Amino acid sequence: MKEAARQARTESRIVGFVPTMGALHAGHLSLVARAKRDCDPVIASIFVNPKQFGPQEDFTKYPRTLEKDAEKFAAAGVRALFLPEAPEMYPMGFATYVSVEGLSERLEGRTRPGHFRGVTTVVLKLLEIVQPHFAYFGRKDAQQAKLISTMARDLNLDTEIILGPIVRESDGLAMSSRNAYLTSEERIAATVLHRALAAAREELAAGERDAARLQSSIRRVLDAEPLMKIDYAEVVDVDSFEPVARVTSSSYILLAAYLGKTRLIDNMFMELRDGSADFTFHL
Ligand code: PAF
Repeated sequence: MKEAARQARTESRIVGFVPTMGALHAGHLSLVARAKRDCDPVIASIFVNPKQFGPQEDFTKYPRTLEKDAEKFAAAGVRALFLPEAPEMYPMGFATYVSVEGLSERLEGRTRPGHFRGVTTVVLKLLEIVQPHFAYFGRKDAQQAKLISTMARDLNLDTEIILGPIVRESDGLAMSSRNAYLTSEERIAATVLHRALAAAREELAAGERDAARLQSSIRRVLDAEPLMKIDYAEVVDVDSFEPVARVTSSSYILLAAYLGKTRLIDNMFMELRDGSADFTFHL
């Protein structure tokens, strides 16, 4: 992979990279489509990274659909697919980790200790191997995207991190490889995450700016779904990811909840355009 990437760079080509854990859906393919607009070649990877799963998490049952994924990537115009194996990525004696302090421990990091250390370590390794000019990540994993952008800035990486929007099913459920775990009853109930965010959007559009009031109306919508157990529902600043008391700058509303054994996350990104007091909502 390093040899091929070096070759592309010496030919002055713009290398784009879409790292994934496979089980592809339209969200992944939208990142490939975006990469294809900016880069040639587009390289993708599939690696179910053991270091980002906790001992009680779903590493062994994570969906693995390699053949179908390879076909989808090829049809989408991916020129090379990197499929490393765990012993190559983490040989005996592997001892070096990278971790973004502070933000790694909050929100997702609180429920999934060590998760983000695994993510930033594998992403740094993948970027070192593929050496892309641009790497593409989805905004559904908003905290992950922020951590990776922070790592790239802090470590002066030669890769620009590009974030793509959430892609949703027609009923609003954010696409995720983990949606495959949902029973048909849970799948119907799962739309409540999107409904809670849509309710918050209505309130924001009507002028509500108080984070506590927004959070309680989100919780009201989520609590009305008996199959749903909330992990967190928070309004955070888009740069610091610190909770805010009032929504006055670009922000995220971040949600995490369990439906049975499946943990789902979702978010709404609210962007304040230069010179405007009104938000553009990305939901
Ligand atoms: O978002 C994912 O699929 C994974 O966390 C990533 C970025 C490919 C690292 O394993």
